[in-house]
Amino acid sequence: MNAPTNDSLAGPVMCVVGARPNFMKMAPILRALAAHQPPLPALLVHTGQHYDQAMSDRLFTDLRLPRPDINLEVGSGSHAVQTAEVMKRFEPALDEHKPSCVVVVGDVNSTLACTLVAVKKNVPVVHVEAGLRSYDRKMPEEINRVLTDQVADRLYTTERSAADNLLREGVHASRVCFTGNVMIDSLLAAREVARPAADTLVLHGADPALLTGLRGYGVVTMHRPSNVDDPATLGKLLQVLAEVAVDLPLVFALHPRTRANIDRFGLAGLLDPSRMAILPPQGYLEMVGLMSGATLVLTDSGGLQEETTALGVPCLTMRENTERPITVEQGTNTMVGRDRNAILQGVADILAGRGKRGRVPEYWDGHAAERIAADLWTWLRADPRPE
Ligand code: UD1
Repeated sequence: MNAPTNDSLAGPVMCVVGARPNFMKMAPILRALAAHQPPLPALLVHTGQHYDQAMSDRLFTDLRLPRPDINLEVGSGSHAVQTAEVMKRFEPALDEHKPSCVVVVGDVNSTLACTLVAVKKNVPVVHVEAGLRSYDRKMPEEINRVLTDQVADRLYTTERSAADNLLREGVHASRVCFTGNVMIDSLLAAREVARPAADTLVLHGADPALLTGLRGYGVVTMHRPSNVDDPATLGKLLQVLAEVAVDLPLVFALHPRTRANIDRFGLAGLLDPSRMAILPPQGYLEMVGLMSGATLVLTDSGGLQEETTALGVPCLTMRENTERPITVEQGTNTMVGRDRNAILQGVADILAGRGKRGRVPEYWDGHAAERIAADLWTWLRADPRPE
């Protein structure tokens, strides 16, 4: 690596995205790197883990992400195949571009794969959204989080509990920096230009009158393997959703994994089109519009737990644990697991006006990416990987 000078870096900052939840995290970071004085040159790598128009291209447009400089086009596969394929294809890109560091976000397979390649080549790795822990090792994302944090050089956190998790795992405090939540940077930037929920329904041939009942409507997303890969579990959850829909119409944005499993297990009959708008995966501006106007959100997503907290919309999370405890402690999130009674009770409470109002956590203020760019500049000009 060349040595950095006073106003330049030794090489570009190589920013990696792979799957849908990465895109909203990276968009503000790229903008902040460009706006920094002096600007930090960046290269965007898309591993191609998500490749559909709906899961990828559309979000690039919505988030004003530049076209990737490099697309590794790995596509789908088992965890081993996908991770290995990213590693194989990322290595030559790293060799060619000699970045001053690699920035990875979140917890998807691409995050870990690129981290492993870079650290072994002595290229500094920066992890954004470090230190979150569900303490559930059955989640593939938990494995990706733990391993990435162990070997990454600079760790940017979204909430203060993340630093405690990292310290418990033996990570030195000097590697950790609390910068806030970049996903909320994207959310705040998109809120004004979000697509109204009624327009989204019309676009997909659903009846917008579903949204305008006395109680409003709920938004549902569900794609965790633990919820959707087992026919009995998925069937049970769809049944509960059908019960919820009797009182509150639902807009259900179906992830491809969930769609495929509903069809494969013969469960499509549980989706009642008179009470549910069944939509394909949505663009970012559509999702923000749908969530902003919702009475509640039912989800197993990590990102939606945070976005609803920032929007002040009550969220019921259909998981046993969360790696984002601040959304429960300070925000609008309630964990309801897969338990029918807990889900129905949670919905009833919200409909009765007893939903959590919450408050917006520290540094979820739209400026997290600026803080990251400022710190990165300082950190890269010191020696990030002393011998
Ligand atoms: C991945 C992430 C998860 C994240 C989620 C958001 C990991 C381990 N998991 O899970 O953390 O919350 O993305 O979506 O990285 N598919 C398509 N089109 C696409 C991409 C996928 O149809 O563009 C289908 C394929 O059939 C694929 C399945 O969806 O097998 C699952 O995709 P995959 O990327 O393996 O994992 P996700 O479940 O999306």
